[in-house]
Amino acid sequence: MKVLFAASEALPLVKTGGLADVAGALPGALAALGVDIRVVLPAYRGTLDKLESPTRLGELKVRGQPFVIWQGRVPGSPVLHWLIDYPPLYGREGDPYHSRQHQPWPDNAWRYGCFAEAVARLALGEGTGGWKADVVHGNDWQTGLTAAWLKLRDPSPRFVFTIHNLAYSGLFPRSAFEALGLPPGWWAIDGLEFHGQMSMLKAGLYWADAITTVSPNYAREIRSPRFGHGFDGLLEHLSPRLSGILNGIDDAVWNPATDGHLAQTYTASSLRPGKAANRAALSAELGLSPGLGHESPQTLIGIIGRLTEQKGFDVVLQALPELMQLPIQLAMLGAGEPELERGFAKAVAQYPGRIGLKLGYDEGLAHRIEAGADLFLMPSRFEPCGLNQMYSQRYGTVPVVHRVGGLADTVVDATTRTLKNGTATGVVFDDADAGGVLYGIRRALELLADPVARAGLQHSGMNRDFTWANSARQYLALYR
Ligand code: ADP
Ligand code: GLC
Repeated sequence: MKVLFAASEALPLVKTGGLADVAGALPGALAALGVDIRVVLPAYRGTLDKLESPTRLGELKVRGQPFVIWQGRVPGSPVLHWLIDYPPLYGREGDPYHSRQHQPWPDNAWRYGCFAEAVARLALGEGTGGWKADVVHGNDWQTGLTAAWLKLRDPSPRFVFTIHNLAYSGLFPRSAFEALGLPPGWWAIDGLEFHGQMSMLKAGLYWADAITTVSPNYAREIRSPRFGHGFDGLLEHLSPRLSGILNGIDDAVWNPATDGHLAQTYTASSLRPGKAANRAALSAELGLSPGLGHESPQTLIGIIGRLTEQKGFDVVLQALPELMQLPIQLAMLGAGEPELERGFAKAVAQYPGRIGLKLGYDEGLAHRIEAGADLFLMPSRFEPCGLNQMYSQRYGTVPVVHRVGGLADTVVDATTRTLKNGTATGVVFDDADAGGVLYGIRRALELLADPVARAGLQHSGMNRDFTWANSARQYLALYR
């Protein structure tokens, strides 16, 4: 089974969000099942330097541009990576999608349109020295057009399309469609036209042989108007080929027993001292006060994520005056919408010593928050899968999450029954508003105050199997 796995970001080469975690780990898990898999992504600035002994695999002319294909491995992985090198499009400063001033690149339609076409041609064996794919696995809108290009050929590899986030639909004006010189017949309701624009996501959905999302619950949710971002009708229609496969977590990266970012590593049997040491270090790192005088230490709540509408952190700001009446502190890491960044920066000044905040991207701090916090809060309005609630469980940190998407699939709510039978791992609340968050946090504080319940939640979480092997088996079955 030969699989070409295409993504716009992958660890350890480049990351802006969870897609990179997935593209950095799933291919390795598939390789372990015997799949001959290649990962392909654009050669963004600095990525070629991270490839071990890269060799020039071949060349492709795409829309008149000379793309060079480099092949190499990334440290610690047996999987071959292909980087599509054309510096005028991909070798820029900034992240894959934005300039350093956080403006979307104005030619993103061209950049990813060309990338998607190159992926299809590589899959068909052009510029690969004879290697041809049986299956192409595309991820998110940046690879949507690959599905369309493949459908022009017969025979052609099958195309599996994974939706990591339906909110990003790769929408561009008709002029971008024309500039890319795409076949005029594609501009149709039964094609990639979406309310008068081109949607690269829709191309992937429409022409895929199979569509997956990153949790079973999200696969159901997106067939309804509330979560469908306008694609619910199409997804309902395509539901026979739509399924959900839960993400895993990379044990080599997220494991408290081996995590080099931590003040102290720990396992389930050294949980108490391990978490205490990490908490103390985290408090010092973020400038949190050690506690309120004679009162018992406050519960530390971790929050990490992109500051966008999706993640619901504005609700935390709304709930803050009431939250701060509770014996809690916050350890927070995030970057994104300026208004939210300002809101949290203001809150730090308003509640000195109670809120530790770092605005920006910091891989190491993300690990230290997972290890040092008691609770981990995710009030997402929607969440295709979510990774931090799984990392939390692995680190003995109790997740408090909105009952939505993959959060509902991965956190077992503490009820009398689940506490008794030892399956409870966190708190799941029903409303992504201030009331919901307050209810969830209050309930979590009650549970933590009971030493038996607390230890039960932590140990059940740490013992869960979130390894990629499970998910990889499901993808392999789908490929077959
Ligand atoms: P999404 O992909 O929607 O952003 P996920 O929960 O799937 O959400 O994945 C987010 C990933 O990015 C996690 O690994 C998380 O730890 C990481 N992350 C998010 N924001 C930051 C940040 N500011 N600094 C470091 N890591 C971050
Ligand atoms: C997306 C989603 C997130 C998911 C990640 C990886 O960015 O927002 O929920 O975990 O992709 O699949």
